[in-house]
Amino acid sequence: MKIIKTNSYEEMSLEAAKIIADVIKEKEDATLGLATGSTPIGTYKNLIKMYEEKQIDFSKIRTVNLDEYIGLPPTDKNSYKYFMNENLFDHININKENTNLPNGMADDPDNECERYKNVIDSLEPVDVQVLGVGHNGHIGFNEPGESFESEVHVTNLTDRTIEANKRFFDSIDDVPKKAITMGIATIMRAKKIILIASGEDKAEILSKIINGDVTENVPASILQKHPDCIIIADSSALSKI
Ligand code: GLP
Repeated sequence: MKIIKTNSYEEMSLEAAKIIADVIKEKEDATLGLATGSTPIGTYKNLIKMYEEKQIDFSKIRTVNLDEYIGLPPTDKNSYKYFMNENLFDHININKENTNLPNGMADDPDNECERYKNVIDSLEPVDVQVLGVGHNGHIGFNEPGESFESEVHVTNLTDRTIEANKRFFDSIDDVPKKAITMGIATIMRAKKIILIASGEDKAEILSKIINGDVTENVPASILQKHPDCIIIADSSALSKI
């Protein structure tokens, strides 16, 4: 695990974007594994700027996202599909047919997991996977206790995750209780992983991820075993290391 400590959220975002841009420059049809949440927004802004400055070209890039809420249509501003269009895809020259997320509105979520797993299989290996992290160490929506062997699956969100994510919704009752997520084994197959974190509220969990035991109770702790994982975090998030 390599750790890059930055002075600010802005610097963290730029460092992450530079690594992704390098992958794109090296391989024009790279597969990017993308994440949602508030943390990657600055990274995506930097990628948009680099595209506008003609430093990078997304025309042949393919993407797979980590997860999607069950029950939110793509028109819902809290769906991850809406998020990705709004924060990245609508501002770059990517072919939207090459962008992939689980369909949270599928009639049969288990069949949808199978379909999405096949999509990922056809695009693997993911050249670089972006990860944020939940306060309980979740990556994607792999909550504590999830098997390290897991593949794409339906997951029940913990009360802590629902509580953390309610800030985006009108009320806590509107936060979906289930999601479809890549599993931990799926995530670990990426050639390179960058985990980004900012702010003091992530300090406790980052110390467990970096220095604690590798345990399914802290899903992101598995990253200690990845051959090319970079943690990019600001000094507040690294204050307990
Ligand atoms: C959600 C997402 C995760 C994300 C996490 C942290 O639960 N499913 O992929 O990492 O939130 O979000 P934030 O970056 O807003 O702290």
